[in-house]
Parts: sequence; C-alpha cells; structure tokens
Amino acid sequence: MTSKKRPSVYITRRLPDIVETRMRELFDAELNVDDAPRSQDELVAALRRVDVLVPTVMDRIDAALIEEAGPNLKLIASFSNGTDHVDVEAAARKGITVTNTPGVLTEDTADMAMALILAVPRRLAEGARILTDAQGDWAGWSPTWMLGHRIWGKRLGIIGMGRIGTAVARRAKACGLSIHYHNRHRVSAATEEALEATYWDSLDQMLARVDIVSINCPSTPATYHLMSARRLALMQPTSYLVNTARGGVVDEMALIKCIREGRIAGAGLDVFENEPTVNPRLLRLANENKVVLLPHMSSSTIESRIDMGEKVIINIRTYFDGHRPPDRVLPGRN
Ligand code: DGY
Repeated sequence: MTSKKRPSVYITRRLPDIVETRMRELFDAELNVDDAPRSQDELVAALRRVDVLVPTVMDRIDAALIEEAGPNLKLIASFSNGTDHVDVEAAARKGITVTNTPGVLTEDTADMAMALILAVPRRLAEGARILTDAQGDWAGWSPTWMLGHRIWGKRLGIIGMGRIGTAVARRAKACGLSIHYHNRHRVSAATEEALEATYWDSLDQMLARVDIVSINCPSTPATYHLMSARRLALMQPTSYLVNTARGGVVDEMALIKCIREGRIAGAGLDVFENEPTVNPRLLRLANENKVVLLPHMSSSTIESRIDMGEKVIINIRTYFDGHRPPDRVLPGRN
C-alpha cells in the first residue's frame, strides 16, 4: 500500500488549539507556538521549502517574496477574508493557487461596524472612560451632560454592499436607520426591498446626503483612497465615518484634517493605513474624544477564527486531493 506524502504547511501565526491540532493530524504542519510575527527572511526561508503557506493579513506576500518561492510551493491558503496582502497576480504567474476564508467573518464584522455606528454618535467610549478615570466618582446625571446624537431616523450610507455591507444594513435597519448604499453593482430587488435600501450610482451624491458612512468594500487598487480629501469634504459637518474594511480606503491624513477643522463630526476606525502603526494624530483625536479607535478586532471572535481555520484546512485538503479549492482567489477579483 502506498501512503500519500502529507503536504508541508507553514503557518505564520498561532491559531486556535482545535485548528492547530487538526492541522497537525492532517499535514506536516509547522506552527508558530510563540506567535511572534515572522520576518520577511523567515518567510523567504519557508517559501523555499514548503508546499503550502498559511499567512494572515499581517504578512506581506508581495511579488518579490513570491519570486523567492521554491518549486514545492503550490498553495497560499490565507487565513483571512481580505487578500490585499497577497500579490495574487504574481502568485498566478508562478502557478501558485491562492485561497482565502470568505463568508465566516461576515456577522462578527457587521456587529463591530454596528457597534461603532452606535458608539461614535452616542459617545460610548468617552462615557465609559469618564467613570473608570474618575474611579466611579462622578457628579451624577444632568440634563445637558454627555449629549450625543440620536441614531434612530438617521441615514446610513454603506460603501460596498457585499456580504458584510448587507449584514450591516440589516442591523442598522433594526436600529431605525434608513439604508443608502453605493456599490459596483446594484443588489437584487428583493434585497433592496427587504432593507428598504436606496441605491446611489453616484458615491459623491450619497456622501453629501447621509449622516453616517460605513465603509465595507474590499481594498483594491480601485478603492485605494476612495474616501479622498475631495470626497470627505462632501460629507456634512454633522456626519460620521466608520471604517471596518481596510485603512487604505480612506485618506487618513485628509480625514484627520476634516475632523480637526470640524468638517466631519467624528469617526470610528477599526483599521488603519499603516497597521500596526497608528498615526499619532489619530491617537490625539481619540484622546480628545473625536474618534473611537479599535485595534483591527472586528472579526475577533473565537467562532470566526475556528471557522476560518476550518476553511483553510478544507482549501488545503481539496487542493491536494486534486480538486479546485472552494475559496480560490483569482487575479483581478480580490
Ligand atoms: C480579514 O481576514 O481580512 C480581516 O481583516 C480580519 O479581520
């Protein structure tokens, strides 16, 4: 009886125990037990020897790195929904398949987008800080203290009405927001009807008319700085921006300027242009309670991480069983 060689799999960060255990059972898995980010040199060394790389959004898998891949490398099975950290074209040129983990972070990410949509106008982070900073010693309720802005009845403009955008819209509708959206394609009439959503072909026009903007589109060359200085200037001075997608979709310096100058009321950001570095000017705005900042945690639930691991395993198994993995990312489609 011939036994098939187990694929060698290099995983760049720690994964939930249950996922790592299964990976060890199925593959010749190289785990990252101390969870320290891998250097580019370590990635190059791995790429030269293994069959499969399992990176996360924090690993930069660019054309230069892919060029270093050895003849064994067949698959980059990213432990992520987004694939903007992987040069999919360069991988395709080398005959390397790329997969991701779509669909399993949708509800968690939408929850956090909704949390920011509520938190920023209602000054939630600021209020929580007042009590802890004062060790519970506060003057008590008064009619004009800590006034925020009502959510119910306001207009939400969603940029990117894919799975996550639609899940945000469902939550927002339940909170009394009216749904407006801009997307490459109009969604089905049934979805529009269920959400009572208004489609805006013109992003510029939508921006000028909504109270809160939620960014839920992927990061692609076409969406880089989609929220440019010009577009941010179209928003109303009483409006807020929430970004749980990718930092690069927003021109961060322009956003900071708009908030400083009072041309936008505030922002809730879970993602940043130069992660893991956060612009100190944003941190200053956070200290002045003008923005709420989260450390890229919108999909951080144990359930999503286990589901993502399951998807990575299925993609690897399917590939080495000789089939097309279910979550292939094709060049030009990420
Ligand atoms: C991803 O996987 O793309 C997410 O950004 C993680 O939250």
